[in-house]
Amino acid sequence: MGSWAGPIERVVGRAGQRRRPATVKGVRLPQLPRSLRWDHNAHYHGWILRRLPAGCERALDAGCGAGGLARRLATRVRTVDAVDRSDAMIGRAGVAAGGSSIRWLLGDLLDPALPLDAGGYDVVTAVSSLHHMPLRPALTRLSCLVRPGGILVVVGCYRAARVSDHLMDAVAVLANLVVGAVLAGRGRAGKPHDDGMPVVWPPDTTLAEIRDAAADLLPGARIRRLLFFRYALEWTRPAAAR
Ligand SMILES: C[S@@+](CC[C@H](N)C(=O)[O-])C[C@H]1O[C@@H](n2cnc3c(N)ncnc32)[C@H](O)[C@@H]1O
Repeated sequence: MGSWAGPIERVVGRAGQRRRPATVKGVRLPQLPRSLRWDHNAHYHGWILRRLPAGCERALDAGCGAGGLARRLATRVRTVDAVDRSDAMIGRAGVAAGGSSIRWLLGDLLDPALPLDAGGYDVVTAVSSLHHMPLRPALTRLSCLVRPGGILVVVGCYRAARVSDHLMDAVAVLANLVVGAVLAGRGRAGKPHDDGMPVVWPPDTTLAEIRDAAADLLPGARIRRLLFFRYALEWTRPAAAR
């Protein structure tokens, strides 16, 4: 596949490397011990599945990582394409894969040569991957991959910039600890979302910039803040005029 010279040098979370520590206004936040850490991305998979329109046949997961969402989509949708530009991630996803309805594609979402479904997908998802790419080209690309009447669902990360962002982060830090402790009590913590995964942190784009881009490129898109350091974007591509 062709490659795109994006901010790959900022991808700091590959296995064996450390991400930049989270800070608020330059103050370093304490990190939870691994035993209390859990997967914030997977936390939103159920929410995404509840967005699927009836009769959904083809799905695309962009920046699929280890493929957890693609596998869940495949339980509800006839065929799933799952794309990631990290061979380590596609390798992990493929090894864990079950079912022939998922096509694992190694490549850059922005590469026009990527063999995606030219007819478009009923649902296109991107979880914590949009901030790895240049915002407007990636939103344009994702929207073009949605068939008329289909939906785009993004769960994304943003750079905290406003007081409201920092307040939300403060609430999330506490909630994160409580959820981590509850899950640890049930033996379900200790599996952070960034385990060996390419991580870009902090993201470049603020929520305001994401809202502006969506207003320009995806008229009618709904964006809302989610509790755990993320936002959700939902957009339905207008059905083709008859
Ligand atoms: C933080 S991980 C999230 C993975 C997965 N969606 C999840 O929820 O666990 C972001 C993923 O996006 C992939 N990615 C980043 N930019 C990409 C691009 N331009 N094309 C395809 N994949 C990309 C990275 O390789 C990485 O696996």
